[in-house]
Amino acid sequence: MKFFIDTANLDQIREAQQLGVLDGVTTNPSLMAKEGITGKENILKHYVDICSIVEGDVSAEVVSTDFEGMVKEGEELAALHEQIVVKVPMIKDGVKALKYFSDKGIKTNCTLVFSPGQALLAAKAGATYVSPFIGRLDDISTDGLNLIAEIRTIYDNYGFETQILAASVRHTMHVIDCAKIGSDVMTGPLSAIEGLLKHPLTDIGLEKFLADYKKGNS
Ligand code: G3P
Repeated sequence: MKFFIDTANLDQIREAQQLGVLDGVTTNPSLMAKEGITGKENILKHYVDICSIVEGDVSAEVVSTDFEGMVKEGEELAALHEQIVVKVPMIKDGVKALKYFSDKGIKTNCTLVFSPGQALLAAKAGATYVSPFIGRLDDISTDGLNLIAEIRTIYDNYGFETQILAASVRHTMHVIDCAKIGSDVMTGPLSAIEGLLKHPLTDIGLEKFLADYKKGNS
């Protein structure tokens, strides 16, 4: 299972990278705005900065909603760095753009996916990744993890190579449940990644080991 961090914050990306378990980064216009990154030139530079920190795929989202606009933007983004994956929304022109990029060998991430049918279309169009937003489904009393399971079944039935990228992951249990279902990737905040290492019995056990060592060696 690949771990992506879902942020545009360079310090958090560095921290996750230094932990040694990071496989990539996802961003979106909201995450960029949260870090105060505005204006096309600054945004493009920020993507390159992110690529210089991590070794894996970095999703960069288009903001056009028409086919021509998405193609123009996506090609510009893809030319920035070989790690860039063009993130395209699940709308009609987005599906056409996924197919276009797929035919040209440009990696894509189909975002804002909330149903198995949308995920099926993304795979048919040749998306590299599909991003079902599990947290946002949970927010409206719909089982986000069930969507991951449904997409897993559909993709396995036909051997689709599109990777399931569980997005809108909010906490450690989302990560663990996605791993149990067989999501190929999860993208979440640093807290969801670092939260995996915490257990009170680990802390208590370590404290006792160190105290016993001290007693025997003082
Ligand atoms: O990867 C998608 C993500 O950025 C959305 O997360 O927490 O805003 O639903 P959230």
